[in-house]
Amino acid sequence: MGRAKTRRQSLAMLAALGAATLVPGGAWAQGDTVKIGVILPMTGPSASTGKQIDAAIKLWVAQNGNKAGGKKVEVILKDDAGIADTTRRLAQELVVNDKVVALAGFGLTPLALATAPIGTQSKTPMVIMAAATSSITEASPYFVRTSFTLPQATLGIAEWAAKNKIKKVVSLVTDYGPGNDAEKYFAERFQLNGGVVLEKLRTPLRGADFAPVLQKVRDLSPDALFVFLPSGQGATFMKQYAERGLDKAGIKLIGTGDITDDDQLNDMGDVALGVVTSHHYSAAHPSETNKKFVAAFEAANKFRPNFMAVGGYDGMRLIYMGLNGSKGAGGDALLNAMKGQIFESPRGPVLIDAQTREPVQDIYTRKVERVNGQLYNIEFDTQKAVKDPAKTK
Ligand code: DHB
Repeated sequence: MGRAKTRRQSLAMLAALGAATLVPGGAWAQGDTVKIGVILPMTGPSASTGKQIDAAIKLWVAQNGNKAGGKKVEVILKDDAGIADTTRRLAQELVVNDKVVALAGFGLTPLALATAPIGTQSKTPMVIMAAATSSITEASPYFVRTSFTLPQATLGIAEWAAKNKIKKVVSLVTDYGPGNDAEKYFAERFQLNGGVVLEKLRTPLRGADFAPVLQKVRDLSPDALFVFLPSGQGATFMKQYAERGLDKAGIKLIGTGDITDDDQLNDMGDVALGVVTSHHYSAAHPSETNKKFVAAFEAANKFRPNFMAVGGYDGMRLIYMGLNGSKGAGGDALLNAMKGQIFESPRGPVLIDAQTREPVQDIYTRKVERVNGQLYNIEFDTQKAVKDPAKTK
């Protein structure tokens, strides 16, 4: 029974997508060129994510050429402005009209989730360069991730807080997938280590005003405030944190590295000094590979790469590695060739877990310091080869 039903469902699904003419996993195979469809928020509130990833993709191609797996690689960039309906429509057009061999990008969790059925039905690998809710990769077997997951990034700071005289914490997260993950995994691990979460506060993804929640935090007077906000909101938050005098009120600021994002960190001023976070990438990561990456990126763009740029750079790397492995073929051959890849990223060593299609990577605990007049996240502790904790149960 299962088989006929599945096929019927698949056909209905394809028709619903307006993709009835699509031959799954076959259309890309003709010709000497393979196309990669990159969908990013180049405009709108998450434009910094688009700007960073686009720059990193261009750097990868400039450094590694436009050939992989014996084919010419052509990148097609589309702007979804951070709107999920647009991401879905663009993904469908890229698969049906442009016959892309892979989709990539996905600046926010809802944008990745909107694309899941398109990749699944057409057997097109989808490389997540930014979005970080753990469950995304379970929404399609064709998702592969080169960014990180929030549970993976969060446990480091929960451990650090419990070991550093922080007993009472208030958490503040953006009210959607990655925020839910951060809130949950922080509280679980911090409480396991004897800490208390006094209150869990949330702000909306769009048009967040931090004043009311910051007032609440002041009144609750915790030892520390744990924060997750998506890339691009950190600077506004820091400004309001300082304006309300929370930095002077003895409430320590901790979080995942998304709030001390290298894209904005240097403009945050003294309020950011001493903020402790855990994350997978700092522009100050002291490896030779990273020093070369940062120098080349800054020379090409006149701004500093952040963790989004590294997700984009390694996403292109993974697509190239995959195409080399599949000899230029797409579909399952490309997907399978991406699984299990190991490489030295600017962030450190990375393995793409063949079972979960998630990056296994080092997570660093870092503190914001001024180095040669510039603010950086300076790594002082490392958890080696961290798997997504949400998938190890
Ligand atoms: C997501 C977006 C971000 O900008 C970030 O820093 C982490 C997660 C997301 O939507 O998944």
